[in-house]
Amino acid sequence: MKNIIVIYPGSFDPVTNGHLDLIHRGSRLFDKLIVAIAQNPDKSESLFSMAERKEMLDAMTAELDNVYVDTFEGLLVNYCIQKNANAVLRGIRAISDYEFELQMALMNRKMEPRVETIFMMPAEQYSYLSSRIVREIAKLGGPLQGLVPETLERRVRERVARRRISATGKHLL
Ligand code: PNS
Repeated sequence: MKNIIVIYPGSFDPVTNGHLDLIHRGSRLFDKLIVAIAQNPDKSESLFSMAERKEMLDAMTAELDNVYVDTFEGLLVNYCIQKNANAVLRGIRAISDYEFELQMALMNRKMEPRVETIFMMPAEQYSYLSSRIVREIAKLGGPLQGLVPETLERRVRERVARRRISATGKHLL
């Protein structure tokens, strides 16, 4: 029997219910699922630090025995080889995701033919959900209910508000 190790990479800034849906699906299917938080090349644009994102994902996946959370820098394929992973898992929400995901999957395959890419669909109620849209809704004071885990709603709101205050120069630490 093969020991299937799969990497689920992303920015997770912040983790959404769509990400968690995919993590649960992957955890049921594969022997080991590593949720790998990628270092954003432009750190100043991130809402949460890598350590904060890891802490949130650790808490949200604590009950899943075969799920591990890690961070990585550099090429995803190099990280996959380092972790002895067989494949990368990516979520496809709508057709619009497909073009970019196909490009990434094929480029990753060109760089490292040993690493496959597996696409899975999150539950349909998350098909319009992304971290970017969560950040935007939080910025504009819209409801986050059902988009991110309940325990994170306040944290996301507070962070967005803090960013806004520091951007206007009223509350620079
Ligand atoms: O959640 P995201 O932002 O859609 O995730 C994109 C991510 C992190 C998977 C992608 O940017 C990535 O793989 N970054 C690592 C650097 C890399 O390998 N780039 C080449 C991709 S073909």
